[in-house]
Amino acid sequence: MALEPSPPFTTVRPTRDGRGVVILDQTRLPQAETEVTLRTRAEMEEAIRLLRVRGAPLLGVMGAWALAALATERAAHGMTDGALQIAALRDDAEALRATRPTAVNLGWALSRMIEHAAAALSTSPPFDAASLAEQLRAEAAEIHDEDREMCRSIGRHALSLFPTEPPSLTVLTHCNAGALATGGIGTALSPLYLAHAEGRSLKVFADETRPLLQGARLTAWELARAGVDVTVIADNMAGALMASTRVDAVVVGADRIAANGDTANKIGTYPLAVLARRHGVPFYVLAPTSTLDPDTPDGAGIPIEQRSEGEIREGMGRRTVPHDAATWNPAFDVTPADLVTAWVTDQGVIRSWP
Ligand code: MRU
Repeated sequence: MALEPSPPFTTVRPTRDGRGVVILDQTRLPQAETEVTLRTRAEMEEAIRLLRVRGAPLLGVMGAWALAALATERAAHGMTDGALQIAALRDDAEALRATRPTAVNLGWALSRMIEHAAAALSTSPPFDAASLAEQLRAEAAEIHDEDREMCRSIGRHALSLFPTEPPSLTVLTHCNAGALATGGIGTALSPLYLAHAEGRSLKVFADETRPLLQGARLTAWELARAGVDVTVIADNMAGALMASTRVDAVVVGADRIAANGDTANKIGTYPLAVLARRHGVPFYVLAPTSTLDPDTPDGAGIPIEQRSEGEIREGMGRRTVPHDAATWNPAFDVTPADLVTAWVTDQGVIRSWP
């Protein structure tokens, strides 16, 4: 059996004292590999808003560690009232949830942590803040471990979809759904890491992903670091690429998959799906089950995060839009389910929705 790759770096981890969260600051990549320690809720909210830590599954892992850290901090400061601790945790969860509304994994993990805290409180009177904080740290570690395992399962399932002939594989991906976006080896990039570890000849095209360049800065960084052959293209080159080159598959992640399969992912995913259909290229969405949102019937109900106009006006580090022109900056778009060839989760391959 081929050796399976491990996450090549740590994206999020608790501080040694459990009272903070250490993140790899993704806004500094690819220039610098810098860790930042977050100790207050305001610092955690800011790190998520600014995309220092990002990617739907990783936002879930981050949310879990954030609540565990905040509970640990309050316990260290002598919190003695269980009702106050749970109220404070609910308040933390609401504030963190509001930072990025589209990625359902964040809310999913925060809710799971709150439910865990409420259950622990109801079963273990008298209230012991240190013990509750310890239980929350254990739950965050569990969420982190599950995410790691889900990445591997997604990769194994997705690998079975790729053609084995010819032996060389060419794929196109958008944004960053790799190790930087998860607690493991990624979602969309997971089968690519597995294929690479198996020694398959692999060529990856990475969309630059305007306006914040997650494809160029992050996907290219982590794939090149792993020795994978990666070529960055500007987003508007995908059509020309598919028209001129054999592309075996488009693989993307997801921030939320509605009950009918409509899929929200980084802005620019939807046009890629249209192009893939035009060129007969399979279009695969790879995501953990925590990205499925059965409570949202279809894509129209998915909240789309609107980001600041500065990301468009000065996205390349200098003003590129005149003062008197308006901008529009939705962070995600929705790909209708009928344009997706298959969704791959840790549970297996889904080809259509009920
Ligand atoms: O705004 P970002 O960088 O958090 O957006 C990330 C994406 O759109 C990813 O494709 C998605 O979260 C899946 S990551 C496994």
